[in-house]
Amino acid sequence: PLVAVVLAGGTGTRLYPASRSHRPKQFQSFGREQSLLADTVDRAGFADEVYVLTRPEFAESVREHAPQAAVLTEPAPKDTGPALVYAAHRIRDQLSEAVMVTVPSDHRIDGDFAGTARTAAEVADSTGGLVTVGVEPTRPATGYGYIQPGERREVDHRETSERASGEQRPANRGGYHTVASFTEKPDRDTAERYVDDGSYWNAGIFAWSPNAFLGEARKSSLGPLVEAMDSGDPDRGFAAVDPVSVDYAVLERTDKAYVVPASFEWDDLGSWDAVERLFEADDAGNVVLGNALLDDATDTVVATDGHVSAVGVADLVIASYGDRTLVIPKDRAQEVREVVAQLREED
Ligand code: GDD
Ligand code: MG
Repeated sequence: PLVAVVLAGGTGTRLYPASRSHRPKQFQSFGREQSLLADTVDRAGFADEVYVLTRPEFAESVREHAPQAAVLTEPAPKDTGPALVYAAHRIRDQLSEAVMVTVPSDHRIDGDFAGTARTAAEVADSTGGLVTVGVEPTRPATGYGYIQPGERREVDHRETSERASGEQRPANRGGYHTVASFTEKPDRDTAERYVDDGSYWNAGIFAWSPNAFLGEARKSSLGPLVEAMDSGDPDRGFAAVDPVSVDYAVLERTDKAYVVPASFEWDDLGSWDAVERLFEADDAGNVVLGNALLDDATDTVVATDGHVSAVGVADLVIASYGDRTLVIPKDRAQEVREVVAQLREED
């Protein structure tokens, strides 16, 4: 069976103060009808089973936003590496021969998501490898992973088309590639080189069999956690493991990775500059989520659950939620991460 694992345990640090650790971005709607999480669970409907993977404190909110999905909670919040070891182990115990597809809950996607997800699952099935989904980059973003494609291969749809009906056949017939290198969140210069040399952005959507993933995780810094899980002691494993994302822990190191190009429009609602790309700007280039009075302001993003006034400003992010306000130049939006780290130290 095909199992979707929706990732919903992050705290959305770079969207502070809309996103706070007690009400992170996946439970918010950012001007749309339903929350990012509800959107994501709908999108995961291509799978036979849908799990939402989250930290224990978010389980109740997940049930509210996605009543149709099963909830998996990792024992402690240690980022996506440990969380996915936990999920793979649990899924392997319950469903032999499953292929799991991870679906992050902070994306806006337009187009044939299901087709790409099915192709990725097919490639995972036929290669026994770790399959990533690649998006063509449009700028040297430093908040993403970069995938250098290697040798090109054709997807063999024969088996699937015998099994599945016509409309279920994957739309993606462009083949896939081996992965020559995977680099998580490079600096600006390195990102520019990857954009020029035809690398992909890592969409954060992965397909693999639980065994293939656990085999690679075992060889990484997650090895002791996999062993603790094997011996039936996840709590001990989670207490000892250092937080690490799956990208750094496994994808940067494995030599069993493949990349399937995405056949959809994609964006990550990761930081405030993304709001500008995802919502329509007015004639002065301003994007306003909520209520604001802007006078002589240009190219500024305002987001608030109250009311903001701004005069004579340009190229800023102004975000104000509850009793918290953030003002930062738009091109430094990634630095919100450091601000929040500092705030947490002072707490
Ligand atoms: N269950 C669980 N536990 N989920 C988590 C945890 C955790 O501890 N931490 C983060 N997540 C979830 C987030 O809620 C989000 O849906 C997803 O995992 C990805 O986490 P982000 O924190 O948003 O990662 P990122 O955007 O910095 O980087 C990843 O995604 C990029 C594309 O969106 C990487 O995979 C990059 O390589 C990739 O380009
Ligand atoms: Mg993200």
